[in-house]
Amino acid sequence: MARTAPYRIGVIGGDGIGPEVVAEALKVVAATGVKLEPIHFDLGASAYLRRGVVLPDEDLAALRSMDAVLLGAVGPPVGSKDVPPGLLERGLLLRLRFELDLYVNLRPAETPEGAPPPARPGMDIVFVRENTEGPYVGEGGFLRKGGPQEVAVQGSLNTRFGVERCVRYAFQLACRRPRRRIHLVHKTNVLAYAGELWSRVFEEVAKEFPTVESSYDHVDAACIHMVERPDRYDVVVTDNLFGDILTDLAAALSGGIGLAASANLNPTNTGPSLFEPVHGAAHDIAGTGRANPLAAIRSAALMLDHLGEQDAARRIELAVAQVAKETLTAEGPPMTTAELGDAVAGKV
Ligand code: IPM
Ligand code: MN
Repeated sequence: MARTAPYRIGVIGGDGIGPEVVAEALKVVAATGVKLEPIHFDLGASAYLRRGVVLPDEDLAALRSMDAVLLGAVGPPVGSKDVPPGLLERGLLLRLRFELDLYVNLRPAETPEGAPPPARPGMDIVFVRENTEGPYVGEGGFLRKGGPQEVAVQGSLNTRFGVERCVRYAFQLACRRPRRRIHLVHKTNVLAYAGELWSRVFEEVAKEFPTVESSYDHVDAACIHMVERPDRYDVVVTDNLFGDILTDLAAALSGGIGLAASANLNPTNTGPSLFEPVHGAAHDIAGTGRANPLAAIRSAALMLDHLGEQDAARRIELAVAQVAKETLTAEGPPMTTAELGDAVAGKV
């Protein structure tokens, strides 16, 4: 039965081009007929400078009660001295991932038709990046800080529970894709402990999915394969930091960061999931109409898919693919942010 109550969406426009691209994403969702009630949150660098706090407890509590969260981008202008480096990343983005237990970061990289080099035709990968562990937990510290004997230790946390739930999600996803292929990507030859845990869990879970073809690649080799033989990969499951790096490379190889979408998922649905373009705030082009909203629009499609609105999600994906192809091959001045949003909205 079709849902009539609007979905309550926490919207964090954020900084720079964030609010502009999110506005286009909401425009496109509206064109599908799916009803949203956007609830705007004043968070990000400029909000921090005004409010003096990165993520107030009451905002976190309110975000928890949403059906989903849509985020544009957060970050101070490059070189800004007002916001300490890393404060927003850890205090807002990572905090939301941890607090909402968004343990899967799903990042599709599918090259649209007509994308010029360095795009690689035939790339159609979905990355399942573990999103709550690894080096991102911030385990470690300094000893004798500032002195010539200084020591910095940075740990990587890998739990059986955390690895297993991420790997199982990735296998389930691979099962639903036509190629039914999955690669674990890690660096087991050097990261002996974390690598072994990941490999053992991967091999164990693989036994539950006999129809999925499973393999392993080292992360450095995976970078070469992605460039030389992009069709090697279907689903790639990997640790938090490797996933961060690989998905930027994959974005560059599949049409650029302006198209790269992501879903930070809590697959148990005990709380909202968060959807955001992979790109940052790009303050240098904010307000010029040159921001590409397609990554934010695709992120909204991932959100609709997660909310159970598969038909609307699919229509957005197809419309984005068409518009991406048209803009990649069009002559004349590039379309503005709003024109791109209108073009996609017109096709859904
Ligand atoms: C990303 C970003 C974040 C990450 C940063 C901003 C903390 O690069 O979403 O990929 O490293 O996860
Ligand atoms: Mn990143």
